[in-house]
Amino acid sequence: MTDVVLVHAFPLDARMWEPQLATAAAAGIRLHVLDLPGFGSSAGAALPPTLDDHADAVQAFTRARGLARFVLGGVSMGGYVAFAYLRRWGGEGRVSGLVLSNTRAEADAPEAKPGRDEMAAVARTQGMSAVADRMLPRLVRSDAPPELKSRLRAIMESQSPQATAAAVLAMRDRRDSSDLLSSIAVPTLCVAGAGDVITPPDVLRGLAARIPHARFVTIEGTAHLPNLEAPAAFDAAFHSFVRALA
Ligand code: MLT
Repeated sequence: MTDVVLVHAFPLDARMWEPQLATAAAAGIRLHVLDLPGFGSSAGAALPPTLDDHADAVQAFTRARGLARFVLGGVSMGGYVAFAYLRRWGGEGRVSGLVLSNTRAEADAPEAKPGRDEMAAVARTQGMSAVADRMLPRLVRSDAPPELKSRLRAIMESQSPQATAAAVLAMRDRRDSSDLLSSIAVPTLCVAGAGDVITPPDVLRGLAARIPHARFVTIEGTAHLPNLEAPAAFDAAFHSFVRALA
Protein backbone atom coordinates (compact mmCIF):
# COMPACT_ATOMS: atom_id res chain seq x y z
CA MET A 1 0.00 0.00 0.00
CA THR A 2 1.16 3.56 -0.73
CA ASP A 3 0.36 6.29 1.76
CA VAL A 4 -1.13 9.39 0.12
CA VAL A 5 -2.02 12.64 1.91
CA LEU A 6 -4.49 14.91 0.11
CA VAL A 7 -5.14 18.54 1.06
CA HIS A 8 -8.48 20.17 0.30
CA ALA A 9 -9.39 23.31 -1.64
CA PHE A 10 -10.97 26.55 -0.39
CA PRO A 11 -13.52 26.89 1.22
CA LEU A 12 -14.05 23.16 1.59
CA ASP A 13 -12.73 20.42 3.86
CA ALA A 14 -11.68 16.78 3.78
CA ARG A 15 -15.17 15.75 2.66
CA MET A 16 -14.21 16.85 -0.84
CA TRP A 17 -12.27 13.58 -1.08
CA GLU A 18 -15.29 11.32 -0.51
CA PRO A 19 -15.09 9.70 -4.00
CA GLN A 20 -11.36 9.02 -3.60
CA LEU A 21 -11.81 7.60 -0.09
CA ALA A 22 -14.25 5.10 -1.56
CA THR A 23 -11.84 3.81 -4.23
CA ALA A 24 -8.38 4.20 -2.70
CA ALA A 25 -7.95 0.86 -0.93
CA ALA A 26 -8.76 -1.15 -4.05
CA ALA A 27 -6.06 0.83 -5.86
CA GLY A 28 -3.43 0.01 -3.24
CA ILE A 29 -3.62 3.45 -1.64
CA ARG A 30 -3.90 4.24 2.06
CA LEU A 31 -5.52 7.66 1.77
CA HIS A 32 -5.10 10.24 4.52
CA VAL A 33 -7.18 13.42 4.37
CA LEU A 34 -7.20 16.26 6.85
CA ASP A 35 -9.19 19.37 7.63
CA LEU A 36 -6.86 22.36 7.55
CA PRO A 37 -6.98 24.48 10.73
CA GLY A 38 -10.32 26.27 11.01
CA PHE A 39 -12.09 24.04 8.44
CA GLY A 40 -14.41 21.10 8.98
CA SER A 41 -13.63 19.15 12.13
CA SER A 42 -10.70 21.53 12.86
CA ALA A 43 -13.09 24.47 13.28
CA GLY A 44 -11.92 25.01 16.86
CA ALA A 45 -8.23 25.34 15.94
CA ALA A 46 -6.39 28.66 16.17
CA LEU A 47 -6.70 30.46 12.85
CA PRO A 48 -3.38 30.39 11.03
CA PRO A 49 -2.36 33.67 9.49
CA THR A 50 -0.19 32.09 6.79
CA LEU A 51 -0.17 29.08 4.50
CA ASP A 52 3.13 28.12 6.14
CA ASP A 53 1.09 27.48 9.29
CA HIS A 54 -1.25 25.26 7.28
CA ALA A 55 1.82 23.40 5.99
CA ASP A 56 2.92 22.89 9.58
CA ALA A 57 -0.51 21.42 10.33
CA VAL A 58 0.06 18.94 7.48
CA GLN A 59 3.42 18.08 9.01
CA ALA A 60 1.83 17.49 12.43
CA PHE A 61 -0.86 15.33 10.79
CA THR A 62 1.65 13.15 8.94
CA ARG A 63 3.75 12.79 12.09
CA ALA A 64 0.71 11.86 14.16
CA ARG A 65 -0.15 9.18 11.57
CA GLY A 66 3.43 7.89 11.68
CA LEU A 67 3.95 8.28 7.93
CA ALA A 68 7.58 7.62 7.03
CA ARG A 69 7.08 8.36 3.32
CA PHE A 70 4.02 9.53 1.43
CA VAL A 71 2.68 11.07 -1.75
CA LEU A 72 1.46 14.61 -1.07
CA GLY A 73 -1.36 16.10 -3.10
CA GLY A 74 -3.63 19.08 -3.07
CA VAL A 75 -6.29 20.89 -5.04
CA SER A 76 -5.93 24.63 -5.53
CA MET A 77 -5.37 26.05 -2.00
CA GLY A 78 -4.29 22.51 -1.10
CA GLY A 79 -1.61 22.83 -3.78
CA TYR A 80 -0.44 26.16 -2.33
CA VAL A 81 -0.14 24.37 1.01
CA ALA A 82 1.80 21.53 -0.66
CA PHE A 83 4.32 24.05 -2.02
CA ALA A 84 4.65 25.62 1.44
CA TYR A 85 5.11 22.11 2.86
CA LEU A 86 7.93 21.39 0.41
CA ARG A 87 9.65 24.62 1.29
CA ARG A 88 9.42 24.03 5.03
CA TRP A 89 9.61 20.26 5.35
CA GLY A 90 10.68 18.89 1.96
CA GLY A 91 14.25 18.58 3.21
CA GLU A 92 13.19 15.63 5.36
CA GLY A 93 12.78 13.59 2.17
CA ARG A 94 9.48 12.01 3.22
CA VAL A 95 7.55 13.10 0.12
CA SER A 96 7.80 10.41 -2.57
CA GLY A 97 5.54 12.03 -5.15
CA LEU A 98 3.27 15.01 -5.72
CA VAL A 99 -0.24 15.43 -7.07
CA LEU A 100 -0.97 19.06 -7.95
CA SER A 101 -4.52 19.58 -9.11
CA ASN A 102 -5.93 22.91 -10.33
CA THR A 103 -3.31 24.99 -8.60
CA ARG A 104 -0.47 27.34 -9.42
CA ALA A 105 3.03 28.11 -8.09
CA GLU A 106 2.80 31.88 -8.48
CA ALA A 107 1.77 34.26 -5.72
CA ASP A 108 -1.33 36.39 -6.19
CA ALA A 109 -0.83 39.23 -8.65
CA PRO A 110 -1.27 42.69 -7.07
CA GLU A 111 -4.53 43.18 -8.99
CA ALA A 112 -5.96 40.00 -7.41
CA LYS A 113 -5.51 41.29 -3.88
CA PRO A 114 -8.57 43.59 -3.67
CA GLY A 115 -10.73 40.61 -4.66
CA ARG A 116 -9.27 38.66 -1.74
CA ASP A 117 -10.05 41.52 0.66
CA GLU A 118 -13.58 41.65 -0.67
CA MET A 119 -14.08 37.87 -0.26
CA ALA A 120 -12.80 38.04 3.33
CA ALA A 121 -15.26 40.87 4.03
CA VAL A 122 -18.11 38.91 2.42
CA ALA A 123 -17.34 35.92 4.68
CA ARG A 124 -17.24 38.08 7.81
CA THR A 125 -20.22 40.32 7.11
CA GLN A 126 -22.57 38.22 4.94
CA GLY A 127 -21.61 34.69 5.95
CA MET A 128 -20.93 31.45 4.14
CA SER A 129 -24.06 31.34 2.06
CA ALA A 130 -22.89 34.52 0.30
CA VAL A 131 -19.40 32.99 -0.12
CA ALA A 132 -20.96 29.86 -1.63
CA ASP A 133 -23.01 32.02 -4.03
CA ARG A 134 -19.78 33.51 -5.33
CA MET A 135 -17.65 30.38 -5.35
CA LEU A 136 -19.97 27.70 -6.68
CA PRO A 137 -20.25 28.98 -10.27
CA ARG A 138 -16.45 29.09 -10.41
CA LEU A 139 -15.82 25.69 -8.84
CA VAL A 140 -17.92 23.48 -11.10
CA ARG A 141 -19.46 23.71 -14.56
CA SER A 142 -22.91 25.23 -14.81
CA ASP A 143 -24.24 21.85 -16.02
CA ALA A 144 -22.75 19.91 -13.08
CA PRO A 145 -25.25 17.55 -11.42
CA PRO A 146 -27.55 19.37 -8.96
CA GLU A 147 -26.59 16.84 -6.23
CA LEU A 148 -22.93 17.81 -6.58
CA LYS A 149 -23.77 21.51 -6.42
CA SER A 150 -25.90 21.06 -3.31
CA ARG A 151 -23.26 18.87 -1.64
CA LEU A 152 -20.61 21.53 -2.29
CA ARG A 153 -22.91 24.28 -1.06
CA ALA A 154 -23.60 22.33 2.14
CA ILE A 155 -19.86 21.81 2.75
CA MET A 156 -19.14 25.50 2.13
CA GLU A 157 -22.01 26.72 4.29
CA SER A 158 -20.78 24.57 7.18
CA GLN A 159 -17.41 26.37 7.33
CA SER A 160 -16.57 29.07 9.82
CA PRO A 161 -16.69 32.59 8.30
CA GLN A 162 -13.69 33.58 10.41
CA ALA A 163 -11.60 30.63 9.19
CA THR A 164 -12.67 31.34 5.64
CA ALA A 165 -11.66 34.99 5.90
CA ALA A 166 -8.33 34.04 7.48
CA ALA A 167 -7.62 31.53 4.68
CA VAL A 168 -8.45 34.09 1.99
CA LEU A 169 -5.96 36.52 3.49
CA ALA A 170 -3.37 33.76 3.85
CA MET A 171 -3.80 32.97 0.13
CA ARG A 172 -3.58 36.69 -0.69
CA ASP A 173 -0.22 36.91 1.07
CA ARG A 174 1.23 33.54 0.05
CA ARG A 175 4.78 33.33 -1.21
CA ASP A 176 5.63 32.72 -4.82
CA SER A 177 6.79 29.10 -5.15
CA SER A 178 8.08 29.28 -8.72
CA ASP A 179 11.66 29.04 -7.49
CA LEU A 180 10.95 25.60 -6.00
CA LEU A 181 9.83 23.94 -9.19
CA SER A 182 13.12 23.07 -10.85
CA SER A 183 14.34 21.46 -7.62
CA ILE A 184 11.38 19.11 -7.23
CA ALA A 185 13.02 15.73 -7.65
CA VAL A 186 10.02 13.44 -7.15
CA PRO A 187 7.53 12.31 -9.80
CA THR A 188 4.66 14.79 -10.04
CA LEU A 189 1.20 14.61 -11.53
CA CYS A 190 -0.31 17.94 -12.61
CA VAL A 191 -4.07 17.75 -13.15
CA ALA A 192 -6.17 20.37 -14.95
CA GLY A 193 -9.89 20.75 -15.50
CA ALA A 194 -10.55 21.47 -19.18
CA GLY A 195 -13.05 24.21 -18.29
CA ASP A 196 -11.38 25.63 -15.18
CA VAL A 197 -11.54 29.44 -15.06
CA ILE A 198 -9.57 29.79 -11.80
CA THR A 199 -6.52 27.77 -12.88
CA PRO A 200 -6.97 27.13 -16.62
CA PRO A 201 -5.21 24.13 -18.23
CA ASP A 202 -2.35 26.30 -19.54
CA VAL A 203 -1.43 27.13 -15.93
CA LEU A 204 -1.08 23.42 -15.11
CA ARG A 205 0.69 22.69 -18.38
CA GLY A 206 3.17 25.45 -17.55
CA LEU A 207 3.60 24.10 -14.03
CA ALA A 208 4.36 20.61 -15.34
CA ALA A 209 6.85 22.03 -17.84
CA ARG A 210 8.91 23.53 -14.99
CA ILE A 211 8.99 20.41 -12.79
CA PRO A 212 11.62 17.89 -13.95
CA HIS A 213 9.62 14.64 -13.60
CA ALA A 214 6.07 15.84 -14.15
CA ARG A 215 3.16 14.36 -16.04
CA PHE A 216 0.31 16.62 -17.18
CA VAL A 217 -3.27 15.49 -17.63
CA THR A 218 -6.45 17.39 -18.50
CA ILE A 219 -9.77 16.02 -17.29
CA GLU A 220 -12.45 16.76 -19.87
CA GLY A 221 -15.88 18.00 -18.81
CA THR A 222 -14.63 19.49 -15.55
CA ALA A 223 -13.86 22.91 -14.09
CA HIS A 224 -11.96 23.53 -10.83
CA LEU A 225 -12.72 20.28 -8.97
CA PRO A 226 -12.07 17.34 -11.32
CA ASN A 227 -11.90 14.83 -8.44
CA LEU A 228 -15.57 15.55 -7.71
CA GLU A 229 -16.84 16.41 -11.18
CA ALA A 230 -15.35 13.38 -12.93
CA PRO A 231 -14.14 11.06 -10.16
CA ALA A 232 -13.59 8.07 -12.44
CA ALA A 233 -11.37 10.02 -14.84
CA PHE A 234 -9.53 11.70 -11.97
CA ASP A 235 -9.00 8.37 -10.25
CA ALA A 236 -7.72 6.74 -13.44
CA ALA A 237 -4.93 9.34 -13.66
CA PHE A 238 -4.31 9.43 -9.91
CA HIS A 239 -4.22 5.65 -9.44
CA SER A 240 -1.98 4.97 -12.43
CA PHE A 241 0.42 7.66 -11.20
CA VAL A 242 0.60 6.13 -7.71
CA ARG A 243 0.90 2.61 -9.14
CA ALA A 244 3.92 3.69 -11.17
CA LEU A 245 5.59 4.99 -8.01
CA ALA A 246 5.10 1.82 -5.98
C1 MLT B 1 -9.39 27.06 -4.12
O1 MLT B 1 -10.13 26.39 -4.83
O2 MLT B 1 -8.73 26.54 -3.21
C2 MLT B 1 -9.31 28.53 -4.37
O3 MLT B 1 -10.11 28.88 -5.46
C3 MLT B 1 -7.91 28.97 -4.59
C4 MLT B 1 -7.78 30.43 -4.86
O4 MLT B 1 -8.76 31.19 -4.71
O5 MLT B 1 -6.67 30.87 -5.22
